[in-house]
Amino acid sequence: MSTAKKEYKRITVKSLIDMKKNGEKISMLTAYDYTMAKIVDGAGIDVILVGDSASNVMAGHETTLPITLDQMIYHASSVIRAIDRCLVVVDLPFGTYQGNSRQALDSAIRIMKESGGHAVKLEGGAEIEQSISRILTAGIPVMGHLGLTPQSIYKFGTYTVRAKEEEEAQKLKEDALLLEQLGCFALVLEKVPAKLAKEVAESLSIPVIGIGAGNGVDGQVLVTHDMLGMTHEFNPRFLRRYLDLYKEMTGAFESYITDVKSGDFPNDKEQY
Ligand code: KIV
Repeated sequence: MSTAKKEYKRITVKSLIDMKKNGEKISMLTAYDYTMAKIVDGAGIDVILVGDSASNVMAGHETTLPITLDQMIYHASSVIRAIDRCLVVVDLPFGTYQGNSRQALDSAIRIMKESGGHAVKLEGGAEIEQSISRILTAGIPVMGHLGLTPQSIYKFGTYTVRAKEEEEAQKLKEDALLLEQLGCFALVLEKVPAKLAKEVAESLSIPVIGIGAGNGVDGQVLVTHDMLGMTHEFNPRFLRRYLDLYKEMTGAFESYITDVKSGDFPNDKEQY
């Protein structure tokens, strides 16, 4: 396996498969708006995920279930206007693809046409096989998502680690293989034991991108607002915080309020 890092002018689904072949890890972060996407893309990220976590992070919902297709299209089109290099993957929200492959295709086409996104992501394995196949027939790249799938939170009951038991681990391995065979270009594995995730990544030729799935996979994804420390109430073990923006921003807002109240802002140079 070569470790030389190839330069990619523009990341495509094929670039990600090449990265796996070359042993280069894939970096992925979420973004939901123009300004954040511009910074994340400019920093050199490989993939931006317009995640349905926008439902939590941007809209303040407790789960990802309420976000609509129209809202995902709004977020994705804002991101697309910002980026020059990265691949943009857009989540199909809850209720827009499960059980009905025609509806799944229509939803994916709306995302591609109206937002300009490059690929879609769907949660689930065998139970959504027909939806995935039908979307793929339209030439739309599909990323899978297994393990903790937040759209099924009411079935799971909690956000704890998935597939710790043999039966669920076996189903996950079968689903991962199925997603590869159907033609998915990559797969997210969320909150599963590191050993299982490594085994899955090694058994597939498509990249496996982990979140809370250890270091034996082909890439990592985090929610940007979490890794920047803006959402300080969320503290899973897998989360590495690169900044404490909650503290930094609070300090900046407090200084601004003080300056306005005291009449210090604006000063002579800050007016016309
Ligand atoms: O919606 C999202 O942000 C996601 C990631 C956590 C993988 O699906």
